[in-house]
Amino acid sequence: MSHTDSTVTEASSSDVAARQAPGPQEPFDVNVDDASFEKLALWKEQYGDTITVKPLERQSPALVLNNPDHVRHVLIGNHRNYNKGVGFERVKMLLGNGIIVSDGDFWRSQRRMIQPVFHRRIIEAQAAMMQGCNEVRLRQWQEKAVSGTVVDITTEMSDLALEVILRALFSQDLDELIAQEGVNPFAMLVEDVTRDLKLAMRFRALTRHVAAIMARRREQNRIEHDFLSLMMETRDKDSGQPMSDKALIDEVMTIIVAGHETTAGTLNWAWYLLSQDARAESLLHEEVDALDHAPGFADLPALRYTRQIIDETLRLYPPVWLFSRKAINEDRLPGEEQDTLVPAGADVFLCPYLLHRDARYWDAPEQFLPERFSEEASRQRNRHVYYPFSLGSRRCIGEFFSIVDMQLHLGLLARHIRFTHVAGKPVTVEPHINLRSLHSIMLMPELR
Ligand code: HEM
Repeated sequence: MSHTDSTVTEASSSDVAARQAPGPQEPFDVNVDDASFEKLALWKEQYGDTITVKPLERQSPALVLNNPDHVRHVLIGNHRNYNKGVGFERVKMLLGNGIIVSDGDFWRSQRRMIQPVFHRRIIEAQAAMMQGCNEVRLRQWQEKAVSGTVVDITTEMSDLALEVILRALFSQDLDELIAQEGVNPFAMLVEDVTRDLKLAMRFRALTRHVAAIMARRREQNRIEHDFLSLMMETRDKDSGQPMSDKALIDEVMTIIVAGHETTAGTLNWAWYLLSQDARAESLLHEEVDALDHAPGFADLPALRYTRQIIDETLRLYPPVWLFSRKAINEDRLPGEEQDTLVPAGADVFLCPYLLHRDARYWDAPEQFLPERFSEEASRQRNRHVYYPFSLGSRRCIGEFFSIVDMQLHLGLLARHIRFTHVAGKPVTVEPHINLRSLHSIMLMPELR
């Protein structure tokens, strides 16, 4: 692989010279896959934090950004110049035109309508449901601890996160659906982890259950305090119109997919990291034991270290490890000496995984040190080197929901259970749409 010289180009929009970012000669299409995971780390070492990758089958070159000022520019400063990028076509098969894939005026209107659904007050009201799900899991793990049965934490976290998001959407209609079908039809998301066309078709077939729940609620004139009813009731501020049924269904499916695997992956890694780190584990125990009751929403501010464990897990294993945008018009990324040119139509890739482990911004970046997220330490850090939930106007809408969910989970379970890792298949990342563990992680529970 030889180095492409940084060429100095005149950008049409300004008189000042802008450089073209360096990069490998080898044409390559960056994607959420193993090859990109390896190459991006290597190229960052070779060519620096902003690189150009020539396309192989695509039309446009790619820029991969690992400079916090550039990340800020694309996601915040000049975000209007960037649409959702490559990689979302596959997601579209699953989600139609839900807000994670839509752009422009439609996205803006949908986001404005959905934002109030994720209001703090609503999440607070859902905390009791989350606690209920965790309590059931606690009893199961207590039984497993007594009988010496190993926990497949990867599958269990997937199962739990799915249950929480489905209950947040459908409340007791979920139980009715399970009773009527004999199984939870959405459980296919836990069982079938391939993301191929067959799965997309099976998944889209689930929309009929969503449509049936919506129809029943309308028939019964029934409004629940859950995401589904809130989205059915929400109105566009300007037109006063509700969402169409098609849009509603797409948003429901989006929330299920976006909200389930990300949270599940984070809890999977958090339990694994804790099983490897007696010091962090004992600090967690100290914190959760200081409460004289099972933690609820009001206790979350007291669960500071628990929160830091989640933040640190998201640093080391950001579920959305790589995502992309497409430049609408030519742009320039600001540099100290020189700007970097972004050609119109370029695919721009952002890689939280690499910036989260960049030794220029993090001491001992490979180590699990939750204390990095103390208020003091966070204040001293560049705000744009950590972005597991993205930044700016398209920042994750479910961030608070998932943080509350994860804090309540660790807060309750760690009061009663600890885990030891059971050696078996290697613990390795699978860098696909989400950064999952390639094999299930097996943990032996112990009562505490
Ligand atoms: C650990 C948990 C989570 C992580 C790390 C995460 C991460 C992200 C990231 C990085 C994005 C931006 C993607 C992009 O712009 O290309 C995003 C968007 C989004 N997330 Fe999350 N997410 C999590 C949990 C959730 C949950 C629980 C929900 C729903 C309940 C959710 C719903 C969404 C939606 C709807 C968007 C699209 C927002 C928009 O474009 O306006 N996420 N998330």
